[in-house]
Amino acid sequence: MAELSSAAGGRRSAFWFGADGRSGMNHRAWMRSQGFTPEVFDGRPVIGIATTWSELAPCNVHLHRVAESVKRGVWQAGGFPLEFPAMALGETLLRPTAMLYRNLLAMEAEELIRANPLDGVVLLSGCDKTTPGLLMAAASAGLPAIMVTGGPMLSGKYQGSDVGSGTAVWRWEEDLLAGRMTQEECAFAEGCMARSNGHCMTMGTASTMASMAEALGMQLPYSATWPAVDARRYETAQRAGQVIVDLVEAEVTPAKIMTREAFENAIRVNAAIGGSTNAVIHLLAIAGRLGVPLALDDFDQLIRDVPTLVNLMPSGKYLMEDFCYAGGLPAVMRELAEAGLLHGDALTVTQRSVGENVSGAPCWNREVITPLAEPFQPAGSGTAVLRGNLAPGGAVIKQSAASAHLLRHRGRALVFDSPEDYYKVVADPDIDADADTILVIRYCGPRGYPGMPEVSNVPLPAKLLKAGIRDIVRICDGRMSGTAYGTVVLHVTPEAAVGGPLALVRTGDWISLDVPARTLTLDVPDEELQARRLLWQPPPAPASRGWTWLYTQHVQGADTGADLDFLTGASGAPVGRESH
Ligand code: FES
Repeated sequence: MAELSSAAGGRRSAFWFGADGRSGMNHRAWMRSQGFTPEVFDGRPVIGIATTWSELAPCNVHLHRVAESVKRGVWQAGGFPLEFPAMALGETLLRPTAMLYRNLLAMEAEELIRANPLDGVVLLSGCDKTTPGLLMAAASAGLPAIMVTGGPMLSGKYQGSDVGSGTAVWRWEEDLLAGRMTQEECAFAEGCMARSNGHCMTMGTASTMASMAEALGMQLPYSATWPAVDARRYETAQRAGQVIVDLVEAEVTPAKIMTREAFENAIRVNAAIGGSTNAVIHLLAIAGRLGVPLALDDFDQLIRDVPTLVNLMPSGKYLMEDFCYAGGLPAVMRELAEAGLLHGDALTVTQRSVGENVSGAPCWNREVITPLAEPFQPAGSGTAVLRGNLAPGGAVIKQSAASAHLLRHRGRALVFDSPEDYYKVVADPDIDADADTILVIRYCGPRGYPGMPEVSNVPLPAKLLKAGIRDIVRICDGRMSGTAYGTVVLHVTPEAAVGGPLALVRTGDWISLDVPARTLTLDVPDEELQARRLLWQPPPAPASRGWTWLYTQHVQGADTGADLDFLTGASGAPVGRESH
């Protein structure tokens, strides 16, 4: 192992570009084929810009332009920027689900960072899985890193009203099923929703994870909320290019920023913004890469004294553009920090503390960002963790997006082994369901589907929608889109595909949900459940080769972040063996 020590005055990249003889010539000569002058090899920090750009990931399609702004900043600060592609995961197109590939992106990006002559890295993300995937990669690789998310789309507009991406689609699907909208109206409406570059502009998973990156201290203040087409998005990207050079000089690695305190800050911020339940899985996975102790129950404990302050779809009324103009995430974090609900001394990429970053951050619209004294929703209304004989490993529910009258509910189960099975009967006028029915959709967990798709918030049976019923309890071992709403119990662990109790439920069984008591109970005697277990057969393996096989062999449960067992932890980015 030929290690270049810092005592020798070199950077990591100097092992490649500062080397003598044939080795150094090879490394420099091929780079010069791009027309760089020799000065770029003078020992300045080499900054990788990992971009998840792709025309197959529409939310990230402008990241090339963002990368150009980052490059300006890196050059300005005396660094040498090099853009490289990382796997682009487009939520809307990838099948069976983009989540099947989050860990693959994390693995690919980690190895690219480690294998190349980089001293620091800027992470360009946007669509849901690209943000956690790149943060996981940076956490494991251990080089100084900063994130720049691509920003939300402009607000959708349809018939004079705001429409939120994702959230409106769920509503229109129900309206279509209930006969309140025609196919022609839907076709027109879909063109009014996604009307600019950027990721979903509701408080869906992309906006949530952008906010989490900022709350963790991994992206610059306000970076989560500038719209994708706003000049300040590009100004912030240029600033990030300058900042990463400083982070390299100061040797500030992700592990120094993403501490236990930073994760606690992020969890509380997620409650305050009414963020996606997907943040639970992603934050657990990122923490797992860093060896930061973080458990599912921490999410429940930490949100109990945090009210929801931000009035955004799907829990509320407004959109990310409104959130930006109201003051953005710093205005929310200031509110929490002043109430002692954040660790104000946590370090951030600015090399200043969270408290310093958000001190004095103004709020310009108290309808969008409500004050702590008069919150949009009361303390403890964020994502709750449920346990019981139906979810011994835990399950979650987003209270702020649920119906208050269903948070304590007992009903009979109507069970389906896949969302596809349910869709076969969703329009059946004779379906045996009423307002008290609890819809169980299973075999949708990380191994089961595979990849844990966002299918838990299936639409109500058309028969109920036509009767004016807008919500029933749904229980699933899959996930729910951050843009969705409803009384939906998610991430049931252990999942049905590994023999979790969810696999033993039968249509007609009674189930009790008690969110205030944090319980989820299958009212079936233990002896009967044991008898059913003897009859249970695991489902056939979904794949016998390739990535899906590797994934299903090694993926862990949702309660620990659904990372692969051999990817947890970090191994840093040492200089490797010379083989050229
Ligand atoms: Fe990309 Fe919603 S589909 S963020």
